[in-house]
Amino acid sequence: MASDSVDTPQVWDTARYQDQHSFVWQYGTALIDLLAPQPGERILDLGCGTGQLTQALAATGAIVSGIDADAAMIATAQQHYPELSFAVADACNFRVKQPVDAIFSNAVLHWVKPPEQAVQAVVNALKPGGRFVVEFGGKGNVHAIVKAVETIRQQENLSPWYFPRIGEYAHLLETYGLEVTFAAMIDRPTPLNDGEQGLANWLKMFGNALLAGLSTDDVEVLLREVEAFLRPQLHDGRQWVADYRRLRLVAIKSSA
Ligand code: BEZ
Repeated sequence: MASDSVDTPQVWDTARYQDQHSFVWQYGTALIDLLAPQPGERILDLGCGTGQLTQALAATGAIVSGIDADAAMIATAQQHYPELSFAVADACNFRVKQPVDAIFSNAVLHWVKPPEQAVQAVVNALKPGGRFVVEFGGKGNVHAIVKAVETIRQQENLSPWYFPRIGEYAHLLETYGLEVTFAAMIDRPTPLNDGEQGLANWLKMFGNALLAGLSTDDVEVLLREVEAFLRPQLHDGRQWVADYRRLRLVAIKSSA
């Protein structure tokens, strides 16, 4: 999902997203297990991207709809899964016609700022007792990649992402009336597809803000420098392995 509050908006290439970055939703199936959707439950997939996890949720018998801020993602999702309901909507101010039993969100909320607005929108959309099951990048996520780019570019604060600690995010959820029943920070080194191209492809796919202001030629020069810098740390001899850290939580909207 695209954020609307960074200087360099993320531009999504849906074909590349699906071809080379399918791990984004493949890892998301563990989060579906945590949600434990029940047949007939109304579930919103917040930041559904191209819809693969929305479809997996629907396959459990739940009544699922997906929203994403990116119109191209939604068009692709609707084309692949015409029987499901998708809409373009911003995580910070979406509304639902009818409160839902659960909101599911995988690998999205690190793009969304301010996080308070997204949490408020989630709370507004949940039934009392409804659950929010979420995973996204936690504190330290892709730290080595960001630091490498900042070091080589001799610039600071290039990261556009929100990667909170457990305590920070749990506090935010509680402030808005959710009770946190599960929280974990999970180191998940993530192999990148496409062998030698993996890191460069990841940066081109997700790292608009890190590469901002560079010409096409300068991007290629930077990518070669980043690869040389990170090879000892993030290349296992066969492939690039990104230093992902996931923040995973379950929270329940208070009935009171
Ligand atoms: C993530 O899923 O953790 C992530 C993806 C793209 C950019 C930053 C983080």
